[in-house]
Amino acid sequence: MKIIINDSQHEAAQGDRLIDVARSGHAHIGYFCGGNAICQTCYVKVLEGAELLSPPGEPEKAMLSELLLAEGNRMACLATIEKPGTIRVLSAVEEVKRMAETDPLQLPAYSAKMGWEALVAFPATIAMQFERTLEGHLDPLGILRDMAGAVIGAIELASALILGSKAGEEPASDCCQGQTGEGCSCGSATANGVRRAA
Ligand code: FES
Repeated sequence: MKIIINDSQHEAAQGDRLIDVARSGHAHIGYFCGGNAICQTCYVKVLEGAELLSPPGEPEKAMLSELLLAEGNRMACLATIEKPGTIRVLSAVEEVKRMAETDPLQLPAYSAKMGWEALVAFPATIAMQFERTLEGHLDPLGILRDMAGAVIGAIELASALILGSKAGEEPASDCCQGQTGEGCSCGSATANGVRRAA
């Protein structure tokens, strides 16, 4: 099954969440709640294959405004691959990175829009998280463990980028186009002994 995240191809199986695919493929999605539907930073825009994903459930509808849902945005930690085929997504953090590189003047309007849409969804999000807490769906220890893993992953990613630059190397590409052969550090230790992380 072909999952393309930010132009890099990854292996996935039915039942995988998008965030799990990104995590194992070291793709740039950006999150810090460990995939527990809390941090609201794992936005991805589905560019192809939306019908192959689980439909948005109540938690996702609470966290994403109607506009963001209509534009094809999903939470990577809540969207599960249900059918075989090709799925192509662009993460919000990657979209911002590309915008900063190619057209930074768009950033204020983009930030204002995303901030406003988060505000619109805020009451429903709070109510949903409150309900999850009351129903015992949140495991504080498990969340802390997952968050620690996410923070370590982010530090590793930053280290890889910084050390790679210092050594005069290109940072490991997100992609390697799904390959793991010579010259590709996806899924393996880099020359600096650190890994890329989601
Ligand atoms: S909300 Fe934090 S990973 Fe999805």
